[in-house]
Order: sequence, then C-alpha cells, then structure tokens
Amino acid sequence: MPVSIVIGSQWGDEGKGKITDLMSPDFDVVARYQGGANAGHTIVWEDEEGNDEEFVLHLVPSGIFHENVTCVIGNGVVLDPKAVLDEIEKIQSLGIEVEDRLKISHNAHLIMPYHKAVEAAQEEERASASDDDAIGTTGRGIGPAYTDKFARSGIRVVDLLDRDVLRQKLRRSIEEKNAILRDIYDAEALDVDRIVEEYVEFDQRIDSFVTDTSKYLCNALDDGADVLAEGAQGSLLDVDFGSYPYVTSSHPTAGGCCTGLGVPPTAVDRVLGIAKAYCTRVGNGPFPTELDNEAGEALRQKGGEFGATTGRPRRCGWLDLVALRYTSMINGFNDLAITKLDILSGMEELKVCTQYRYDGKKTRRFPSEAQTLEKVDPVYETLPGWSEDITDVRHFHELPTEAKDYLAFIGEYLDVDVGMVSNGPRRDQIISDVEQPAAA
Ligand code: GDP
Ligand code: IMO
Ligand code: MG
Repeated sequence: MPVSIVIGSQWGDEGKGKITDLMSPDFDVVARYQGGANAGHTIVWEDEEGNDEEFVLHLVPSGIFHENVTCVIGNGVVLDPKAVLDEIEKIQSLGIEVEDRLKISHNAHLIMPYHKAVEAAQEEERASASDDDAIGTTGRGIGPAYTDKFARSGIRVVDLLDRDVLRQKLRRSIEEKNAILRDIYDAEALDVDRIVEEYVEFDQRIDSFVTDTSKYLCNALDDGADVLAEGAQGSLLDVDFGSYPYVTSSHPTAGGCCTGLGVPPTAVDRVLGIAKAYCTRVGNGPFPTELDNEAGEALRQKGGEFGATTGRPRRCGWLDLVALRYTSMINGFNDLAITKLDILSGMEELKVCTQYRYDGKKTRRFPSEAQTLEKVDPVYETLPGWSEDITDVRHFHELPTEAKDYLAFIGEYLDVDVGMVSNGPRRDQIISDVEQPAAA
C-alpha cells in the first residue's frame, strides 16, 4: 500500500516529468500534490516512424500516457480550471482516454483571472523598486491563489459545482481584488460580470472529474494500490526551505505530499530525489554556482535550457552538492535519479561545488536565507570529463570511466545511492542498473 514521492532536488526542471512517466507503469495511481500550472513537465517518446514526440504537462500528472494508471490532482494543487480543461482536450486529441482516469480534488483551490492580474501588478511594482526585487514568477497566479487559500477567502473546485455559491464568492473576490488593483497598484480593474458569466459555465465541463481524492487515495492504499506522488517545482523553491522570497508559494518538499494529497506519512516508503547533473534556475534569486558566461551559455544551448512553461532562458551553472546535501537532508532521499548526464559529454573538466566560502570560512552548510546565500562563494573540486556521446548507452558498465566516477562522487558526497541515470529526453534513455561504488 505504499506511496513513493518524486521530488525535484534543485530549482525545478530536473526532469521530474520524464522520470515520473517512465516509472508510471509500476504504479496504479500518479498524483500531483502542490503547485499549479507554473509547472512544465516534459515527456518525450518515439512515435511509430521513429520521430520524437513531445508533450508538456502543466497540471495533469505525468502518468496520463499509461492507460492503466489513474491520475489525481490533489487538494494541495491550485487549479486553473481553464488551463486544466485545455490540457485535457489536448491529451484527448492524441487519442488518449482521460474521462475515467483523471480525478480532481473537490478541495483544490482555484486560480482565477484576478490572481494573475494581481501577480502581474505586484511583480511590476517590485521590478520598478530601486533595488529591483521582482521574483520572476511564471505569471500563472500561483502566489495570489495560495494567499487567498490561507486567508480563507479562496474559491475551491467544489464551489464551481454550485452556480449560486460561485456567483456570490466570485463577486466578493473580484470586487476586493479590483480595489487592490485600482487603489494600490494603479492598475486596470476587471469586469466582474464577464468573469462571473464565464466561470459559472465550468460546472458541467469539470463535474465528472471532481471527487474526494483523499478518500479515493486512502481507500486505494488500503486495497493495496501503489501510488506515485509527483512533486512540481524543486526543493530549493519551497516557501519555507528555499531562498525566500525567491521561491514559489507551496511545499514541493516531501512533507507537502501528505498535506497536499491527504495521505498519512506512514504510507510513504520511498522518496526519490531528481537532480540534474548540473544546475539550472529560472527566475530571480541567489544561485551560487551560476555560470554567467560562455560556459553557462554553452550548457543552456546544449541542454535546451529554456523554460517549459514560459520559454524563458534558464540560468545555468555547475552541480552544487552543498545545496543537494541540504535538500537530501530535508526530504530524506532514499535514492537519486541523475538526469541530463549526456549534456556534460565533451567537457574537458567538470566542476562540482563541495563547500561554500562565507565570511572567510569554508562551510558545507546551506544557508536558506537569500541574503546570506547571495554572499557565498562556491569552492569547487575539479573532476575529469569525458568526450564520448553517451545517449545510446543503456547499461552502467558501458559508461565512460569518468562518467561513472562523476556519479560515484555525487553518491559518496551525499551518502545516497544514485539508482537511475537519464541520458536523453526519451523514455528509453535511462540506465537503471547503476552499480554502487564499493564502500571505502
Ligand atoms: P521537469 O519540470 O522537472 O519535469 O523538467 P522539464 O520538463 O521542465 O525540463 C527538463 C527538460 O530536459 C525537458 O526538455 C526534458 O525533455 C529534458 N530531459 C529530461 N531528461 C533528460 C536527459 O537525461 N537528457 C536530456 N538531454 N534531456 C532530458
Ligand atoms: P517545474 O515543476 C522551474 C519558479 C519561477 C520563479 C519562482 C516563483 O516545471 O519544475 P511562481 O510562478 O511559482 O510563483 O514563481 O518559482 N518556478 C519554477 N522554476 N520549474 C518550475 O516548475 C517552476 N515553477 C515555478 O521561475 O522563480
Ligand atoms: Mg519544468
């Protein structure tokens, strides 16, 4: 009856979608527990003619392409009803049955147009401040929707099913947000009637998907089902454990799974961390190993490091083991999947950050407060690179020695087994027979 959790161990975009998709056939249920359409989870497969097909999921869990898997959008997700219905249509247009396989929590909070409008106004205001402290959000309304949830003024999926309740709650919310937009941000107010009329129509379209997903999941677990919980974003974007305020507004870390799905912690028996073989970050905030130079640009181009949701160029840098050790501690990773190892082929030397220098002293402590993290300097160890293209490798023993040593270095530093290595975007580009280095 166990739950396994897939968690981004860096700043997001580690390849969670790919790993979740390829693990899905071993599970009965795949569930998203937090975040919203700020996520962009890319799945790539080979079609019958041998061409690569790609699909980017924002809200629907990455198990949807496997017909025996039921997908759940949990109560912890903030749901843009328009975005999810568009996504469902797109998936159906590929000939995939969604209707009986997707369940949406009746308790999930909704993202409305006014959340996006408030977020845009807030970001503009922050950007125009003398110290430009915009967060660089995805513009999907995430922060303001979670704000309403915790202010107890949010609108939930269940409210979509009662037109009178919805009308009343929407009016109140839009009027309040209009006052904020007009009076605080000097921004344009929204048309109350237009939004109300648009959203009262959603009841019929969404009704069949809505259920008490916590009850569904707990019953399924009791009946012996295996559940895969798919984290969105990354641990270093967690609202408590990331470099606040340059974070998202939810808990991508392991604890978020239980509150975001309504499953007990005692049901969780595996926490799998996903880490890119180097680091990327989209949006603003400290990034100690960032390569703001030609080397960073080379990684960006070779790794195709452009946001799957916004298309923004991702900031790129060397692997940061100080940060990974911190997220491994918080999440209690049982094992790690290292992705995009293929992107490092052809680099003569690879740098890996093993300590930070702060205030003249070396430390392995990761300071999650942004103002300290801004001031640390990375201390690197240099490892030899490899020249071979590794995208066709399917077994660990076929990897160049330097690539094996790179993986061993990560595992030993973190004291966590690297159990999977991803060496290309497609499902079949995975190495699962990783040999663990002999204990020293
Ligand atoms: P997610 O948000 O964690 O699911 O990751 P994204 O989908 O935003 O970004 C990961 C990108 O890397 C996508 O374009 C994937 O298709 C691609 N990808 C995933 N794993 C690998 C890999 O091992 N090698 C390469 N070259 N690309 C990968
Ligand atoms: P996946 O699931 C990478 C970043 C934004 C910004 C910060 C806050 O694909 O890994 P938000 O819109 O959440 O309020 O933005 O978080 N961010 C992500 N970065 N991958 C993501 O999701 C992200 N979701 C949010 O760029 O820095
Ligand atoms: Mg992504």
